Amino acid sequence: MVLSNHAEAATVQDPAARAQALQALRELHDRTCPHCTTATVHTHTVFGEGNAMARIMFIGEAPGETEDQTGRPFVGPAGDKLNGMITAMGLRREDVYIANVLKSRPPDNRTPLQHEVDACGPFLIEQILLIRPEVLITLGGPATKLILGTEAGISRVRGIWAEWAPPAGHGAPIPVMPTYHPAYLLRNYTAKTRGEVWSDLQAVMARLNLPARG
Ligand code: URA
Repeated sequence: MVLSNHAEAATVQDPAARAQALQALRELHDRTCPHCTTATVHTHTVFGEGNAMARIMFIGEAPGETEDQTGRPFVGPAGDKLNGMITAMGLRREDVYIANVLKSRPPDNRTPLQHEVDACGPFLIEQILLIRPEVLITLGGPATKLILGTEAGISRVRGIWAEWAPPAGHGAPIPVMPTYHPAYLLRNYTAKTRGEVWSDLQAVMARLNLPARG
C-alpha cells in the first residue's frame, strides 16, 4: 500500500523539500496511524530521523524506553551500539536515516504483533519511498521479515544481499543487507557475532564505494 504521493518527493533533489515531505508524512502518521493512534502505553511516537538524502537507511524494530521518552530512534543502549556501527563505517548519524517498523513502544518491549506491523508498516514503506536510499540495512528479525517477507531467522539470512521491491510504479528494487539487531549484539557480543556484523557492514561499504576501514 502506498499512502499518498509523498513518495514523489524522492525525485526531488532538494534536501529541504525532502525534509519537508518527511515532516508532512510524520504529521500524517501521528494523525492517522491505525496502530499509534490507538496504542495506549506509549509517551511519544518515534517517527525516525536522519538525513533525508541518506544513501543508507537503518530499520529497527520498535522504540524502547528511552526512545519512547525522547521521541527519537535508537538513543538508548541499543542506540549506543548502533552509533558504534555507524562510526565504524566511517559515517556519522547525520549521514544516515534511522527508522523502525513500529513507531510507538510496545508494552514491555515485546515483539511487534502482526496487526501492529500491518497498521504501522505502510508509513515505514512510505519513508523508504521518499528517501529512496541506495541500501536498506534491516536490523534483526521483525524489520527483515517486513522488508523481505521472510520467516527465516536473522542468523540464516544476515550477510546475504537481498532486494526490496517497491510497489508497482515506484521505481527500482533497493538492495537490502539484513544484519543483527544492536540489542541482540549487546546481549551476545562474541568474536563471532562481532565479526559477522562487521562483515555485513563492510559489504555495504564496498557496495557504496565507501573507504575501507579496520
Ligand atoms: N530498538 C529498536 O529497534 N529501535 C529503537 O529505536 C530502539 C531500540
